[in-house]
Amino acid sequence: MQRILIDTDPGVDDAFAIFLAMRSPELHVEAITTVCGNVSVTQATQNLLTILGVLDLNTFPIIAEGEAEPLVKPLVMATHVHGDDGLGNVSQLRNTDGSPLYPQANTTISSVSGVDLILEMAARYPDELTIIALGPLTNIAKAIRKDAEKMQRLQKIVLMGGAFEAYGNVTTTAEFNIFVDPHAAHEVFQFDVPIHIVPLDATHQVILTGERLHAEIDKREGTISHFLKDATQACMEFYREHVGFWGFHIHDALPIGILTRPDYFESVLAHVQVETEGTLTCGMTVADLRPERQHRDPNANVYLKVAVEAFLDYFFERLQ
Ligand code: RIB
Ligand code: CA
Repeated sequence: MQRILIDTDPGVDDAFAIFLAMRSPELHVEAITTVCGNVSVTQATQNLLTILGVLDLNTFPIIAEGEAEPLVKPLVMATHVHGDDGLGNVSQLRNTDGSPLYPQANTTISSVSGVDLILEMAARYPDELTIIALGPLTNIAKAIRKDAEKMQRLQKIVLMGGAFEAYGNVTTTAEFNIFVDPHAAHEVFQFDVPIHIVPLDATHQVILTGERLHAEIDKREGTISHFLKDATQACMEFYREHVGFWGFHIHDALPIGILTRPDYFESVLAHVQVETEGTLTCGMTVADLRPERQHRDPNANVYLKVAVEAFLDYFFERLQ
């Protein structure tokens, strides 16, 4: 059993990742921290409560709200992709009696900050805790700044972010999580703990079409199925109009798979840097991925290949 802390900016694909993690017996989700990104950090926290409410849990991870702004750059959000509330506007859906169709989980938000909860968990589980970072790396970077010694005791960080031999999804060169806070990414990639990066090179291989999603949902009854259909409408329409297919990439589910189905993935060692200043390249992740360069001062494992069908089958089996 692996102890994990999820740092997230939910976000529709973050919701898929959280469902998958909470349904993975190999993982114990000790805590979840929210961060600004797809939406404001306050909305991200409300969305997290909605997501956990769908799961009908008896016990909950510790939850804390993280940073509201990136280290240096002004916040850029992605509500045009994920819907105004970041979850396909499901927060607006009501039953006939006016009650929320997806009521929030009956749990509390910790009084400590996201950064302090990360440090508390790192200290409580030395050498055992994996951070799964699914949004901009602001909370992680601030935790390192605040107490690097505690953060040194992390077992590893597995993050969704970057683009190496793939184009970016915000600019030609930059992926969203890194683009929003390149200074935080720079500090995290420089930090001396094992870093596992799942970039667009991998996540763009896993295309969840609307047809596949609806076919899988229609096999099952239950709140999760209805939620997945409602929460994904907005982003799948965005994809239909701007990306060229009806469906979307379940980016954030892949870092969970790295822990539970590592055999579905292939990675290379690389020395990864982040551009923090460029006009055209700010937020670009830079690494020489040529096999003969793998052992030149590597600071990360970069995942470039996924067993797509196996991963999708596994994903839907777990969402039973
Ligand atoms: O580029 C995709 C990443 O940015 C995902 O984590 C998505 O949720 C957004 O945060
Ligand atoms: Ca995310």
